[in-house]
Amino acid sequence: MSELTEKINQLKKEKNAVILAHCYQNVEIDEVADFVGDSLYLSQMAAKTNADIILFAGVYFMAQTAKILCPDKKVLLPRLESGCRMADMISINQLREFKSKHPNIPTVCYINSTAEVKSECDICCTSSNALKIVKSLQADEILFLPDTYLGKWVEQKLGNVKVTTYPGFCPTHLQIRPDDIKNMREKYPEALVLAHPECHQSVSSIADFVGSTTAIMKYAIESDKKQFIIATEKGVVDRLKRDYPDKEFILVKDNIICPNMKWHTLIDIYNSLKNEEHEINVEKETAKKALKCIDRMLEVSAK
Ligand code: 13P
Ligand code: SF4
Repeated sequence: MSELTEKINQLKKEKNAVILAHCYQNVEIDEVADFVGDSLYLSQMAAKTNADIILFAGVYFMAQTAKILCPDKKVLLPRLESGCRMADMISINQLREFKSKHPNIPTVCYINSTAEVKSECDICCTSSNALKIVKSLQADEILFLPDTYLGKWVEQKLGNVKVTTYPGFCPTHLQIRPDDIKNMREKYPEALVLAHPECHQSVSSIADFVGSTTAIMKYAIESDKKQFIIATEKGVVDRLKRDYPDKEFILVKDNIICPNMKWHTLIDIYNSLKNEEHEINVEKETAKKALKCIDRMLEVSAK
């Protein structure tokens, strides 16, 4: 164990802190993380923890969600630069305009959205529970934001719900093109292609499996196959390679990296915990309304 890792672990004990890390983080962060996973898992862990401090190695909306779920705890984000570029594509005014064009339709927001946006939506979802959440509404039509591709994937999978989407997208996943998949399939004809639903439809429609980061990992681990082409952020491939050396994991294309996820380093985590910065706070009324949207998701998800 490195000296830095030991120091972080010592601080965690002294301050009764917990570290949550998304699986797109730099892989060395797992050395100090108490929980590593996708956004649903991490929000469930945040909701359950007894720690006094939650340090989030993830993007801004994830730390905000933890604060909304645990208003009495101190939530820290080591680097404030780590915003989600998709979440920042829709402001509260843009949401209001979108809703006013399509009145009286249930509004589902992806967890990759700001607290303000969540405060005016009916329910939120993550990529791992989006189908279940939309189904639970028993509606013929819904509004979905900000990710147009996750929304369209839900529409195509469910088949009986019209999903009107906001034109947001993930710049990292949109770098993956159908030709990248075709080229990789030619190179590795035995491999299965596993893709995240934030990918463009032209990519997810030719994948062998589409699912959240955790679902992709689970599928690869449980499959009898040995070779996988992974169409999502590099952190997923790094962890699979580390944990399953008897299988082969190929990133669909070089540099499929979310730069904002990669801001945090072990030194940032140490400084953040030591100085208890940067504390994330959410305005009280906004947090109260956003909590309804998140709690509703957690309830449906647990059923
Ligand atoms: P997951 O819900 O699969 O963790 O995805 C979050 C995310 O930001 C993917 O880009
Ligand atoms: Fe946001 Fe895309 Fe980064 Fe996920 S990968 S945090 S959606 S910018």
